[in-house]
Amino acid sequence: MSIILIGFMGAGKTTIAKTLATQYQLPMVDTDQLLSHQYQQPTGELFTAIGEAKFREVEFQALKIALQANTPIIATGGGIIEYQKSWQLLAKQNDVFWLDVDFATCWQRIANDSNRPVAQQNSPAILLARYQNRKRRYQSAANYKITAANQSPLALASQIWALQTTLR
Ligand code: S3P
Repeated sequence: MSIILIGFMGAGKTTIAKTLATQYQLPMVDTDQLLSHQYQQPTGELFTAIGEAKFREVEFQALKIALQANTPIIATGGGIIEYQKSWQLLAKQNDVFWLDVDFATCWQRIANDSNRPVAQQNSPAILLARYQNRKRRYQSAANYKITAANQSPLALASQIWALQTTLR
């Protein structure tokens, strides 16, 4: 059983996963990190090299590995729910937390990040459309929605810890 964090790029999934891991002394994994380790290149480069469709498939495999290993804390890539198989697998889990952060805040955090090709290769308007479209999917895959823009990582980690059902 795992705490799984989903949400748009820049929502803070990796930061909160690391905070949870430190606070509660549990292993964590990030599907992006798994992929970058497996393919020996930064996730952004991998995404550009193999293309989005293939990236979504390997991302699904990474998610399966993290779940099969029962990794207590799993951070995911922001687009994982765009892939039906990943979305369906996430929807079956018990402790999926959607870090809901407004688009302006996400954009501020990701606009200049060269390791985020989806942010670099799309105009803000197209990215906003993707954000809107993804929201529905995050919502339907998640067991909990966490309003995450104006709280510290520590506060968010304690909130998530108090809500989760499987690790206590
Ligand atoms: C992506 C988000 C990234 C990474 C890849 C694609 C997306 O992860 O998986 O660049 O499509 O939103 P983060 O959400 O950690 O930035």
